[in-house]
Amino acid sequence: MSKILVVVYSHTGTSRRVAELLCSQRGWRMAEIVDARRRSGVFGNLRCLCESLFKLRPAIRYDGPLPHDFDAVVLVSPIWALQLAGPMRSFVERRRDHLPDVAVVSVMGGQGAPNAVAEIARLTGRTPLLSTAFTVSEVDDGSYAARLEAFGVALNAAKDSKAVVQPVTLSPQTA
Ligand SMILES: Cc1cc2nc3c(=O)[nH]c(=O)nc-3n(C[C@H](O)[C@H](O)[C@H](O)COP(=O)(O)O)c2cc1C
Repeated sequence: MSKILVVVYSHTGTSRRVAELLCSQRGWRMAEIVDARRRSGVFGNLRCLCESLFKLRPAIRYDGPLPHDFDAVVLVSPIWALQLAGPMRSFVERRRDHLPDVAVVSVMGGQGAPNAVAEIARLTGRTPLLSTAFTVSEVDDGSYAARLEAFGVALNAAKDSKAVVQPVTLSPQTA
């Protein structure tokens, strides 16, 4: 059984609920990234926007376990201004040399998840194993739960699989 850590950043609580449900469905451990500086009100929202527009890396605190002690890490984060939320960018950037395989769950109003996955791939130098996205309304009405469970099952299967594809299978010309 693979050891999987779920690392979440959440500003208003939706991503945290997603991470908590995933952990309770799969029995995985959860750890949280928090802002080093309080983020609230109109200025808080402006900071979110600026961090996305200028790809800034705000100061964060992370007191969770070391990701490299796990077989994979699931990153759960909101989308701001069509981009990865700044605090998750800070986490990935800071830990990129010590991250195991990564999977991504984006939480959003409706647009931007592919940009977050692409940024994480660029920062880590590896394509995430798996990614998915949920809207805030899907989380609020609970309709995301089955898809989240399927995501967890698929990630476990991907990590537990020992299958190796030989180059000959991928390219008939090498046969
Ligand atoms: C400043 C700001 C910008 C946002 N930009 C987007 C966006 O571009 N696309 C989108 O789908 N949702 C956007 N949202 C909605 C958030 O993705 C949504 O509120 C978030 O997923 C909630 O997660 P949380 O409760 O874990 O913080 C934005 C929210 C804020 C506060």
